[in-house]
Amino acid sequence: MNYLIGIDLGTSSTKTVLFDEVGNIIADSKIDYPMYTPHNGWAEQEPDDWANAAVNTIANVIKDSGVNKDDIKGIGISGQMHGLVMLDEDGKVIRPSIIWCDQRTGKECDEITEKVGAERLIEITANPALTGFTASKILWVKNNEPENYAKCKHILLPKDYVRYVLTGEFATEVSDASGMQLLDVPKRQWSDEVLEKLDIDKSMLAKVYESCEVTGTITEEAAAKTGLSTSTVVVGGAGDNAAAAVGTGVVEEGMAFTTIGTSGVVFAHSKEVKIDPKGRVHTFCCAVPGEWHQMGVTQACGYSLQWYLDNCGNSYAYDAEKTGEGIYDIIDREVLDTPIGSNKLIYLPYLNGERTPHLDPDCRGVFFGLSSMHKRSDMVRAVYEGMIYSLTDCKDVLDEMGVPINEMMACGGGLKSVVKRQMLSDSFGVDVNTVTAKEGPALGVAILAGVGAGLYESVQEACKKMIHKDPDNACTPNMDNNKEYDKYHAIYKKLYDDLKDSFKDMAKL
Ligand code: XUL
Repeated sequence: MNYLIGIDLGTSSTKTVLFDEVGNIIADSKIDYPMYTPHNGWAEQEPDDWANAAVNTIANVIKDSGVNKDDIKGIGISGQMHGLVMLDEDGKVIRPSIIWCDQRTGKECDEITEKVGAERLIEITANPALTGFTASKILWVKNNEPENYAKCKHILLPKDYVRYVLTGEFATEVSDASGMQLLDVPKRQWSDEVLEKLDIDKSMLAKVYESCEVTGTITEEAAAKTGLSTSTVVVGGAGDNAAAAVGTGVVEEGMAFTTIGTSGVVFAHSKEVKIDPKGRVHTFCCAVPGEWHQMGVTQACGYSLQWYLDNCGNSYAYDAEKTGEGIYDIIDREVLDTPIGSNKLIYLPYLNGERTPHLDPDCRGVFFGLSSMHKRSDMVRAVYEGMIYSLTDCKDVLDEMGVPINEMMACGGGLKSVVKRQMLSDSFGVDVNTVTAKEGPALGVAILAGVGAGLYESVQEACKKMIHKDPDNACTPNMDNNKEYDKYHAIYKKLYDDLKDSFKDMAKL
């Protein structure tokens, strides 16, 4: 039997899964690490926390499964996009990585727009200048830490740093590179024009591959640490969402998925490069060679619930311990027992600014309508609804652009809850399905590794064989609820417009 490994480098942990060649999970392992917020709006992580987590989780799955290392044919790496990893001439990390949800680079975005020109930037990179993307982070280091910039010889994305530790190669692939704002997205190669205008030396950037191409094999040193064979290939892999698309079978036009992780994403596959002229959703190369996707991204979707529970969730932890019930089961029950609209309480999930649809690094979270009658159940339902409205905003932009969505899948930890999936289906007004395979991004990159290692002919062919809809998990929309959600969603949208200037004033203080 042949085996494949998928590594998913998330914001809170790295998970590695060993699959057999037909997609059964043989072993998995997960290691957590911290995120640092040294200032309001900043977010950093240590690249070596990711690398150690990847090395140790690979060692764990090999040990736990007892499979022969020579039968592991390929590895795919997926992960959080946009993070900036800077290495010196010896390949050593220069400073902590500034990651995707960091919002410090507003000024650098203005600099990018001014130097490249707003229209030209969208034509080439398919997106307006965004604080989350890597180019503005590179300029921030150049402008604020010139001593670090002077030492920098290699720029990598988070998952590509793990690839470097495993293979010694400086490589990336089109889906993740699309989120750097340095790639010519329609042409799938670095843009000399953008690099020149921003004065970024191309030699610092990694070689760009398609997601299922082989980028290298395991070094002796990495083999000794992980238990892998030096002949196992590592393919390009993909950014977390492009990888989740493959792992959910979203590889053809008309197919889409919604996911709730730390961020929230509504992703639609596309044969063409369709660009939102207002830049509210991203257009990126996808993991299927020669094709693209559009996606709306919200900054703090699952993170909103995590933040709420971390800071205000002690009573749930107490109840869970007393009753033996899971915290999320208690919350789901309370949400179900609370009416749509949370007894007239609305939550805006802008803890880390927002991308789709506002592109505003300065907006922040809000509970609106708090009354003495509100209980924890209203507050937690309001958080759920805020998450769902933010995803509905993403879908609304895709609809407005005429992106065809014939089938909506759900994936990601946050949508394991049927309560949230039904709310999503009701608010979207469309069927929401899941697949039987639950390892979205890790399975997606394992499939890409299988294509690269020659086990499958194409990504689509592999998905047809390995990904199946779960007949027991379909949610169909309740259109009465849809009308009810619409009323509160309209107020939710207006609240942002009403508060926009105050967010800016607050940011300036
Ligand atoms: C996508 C994005 C997030 C991160 C973290 O543009 O920023 O999905 O990749 O998950």
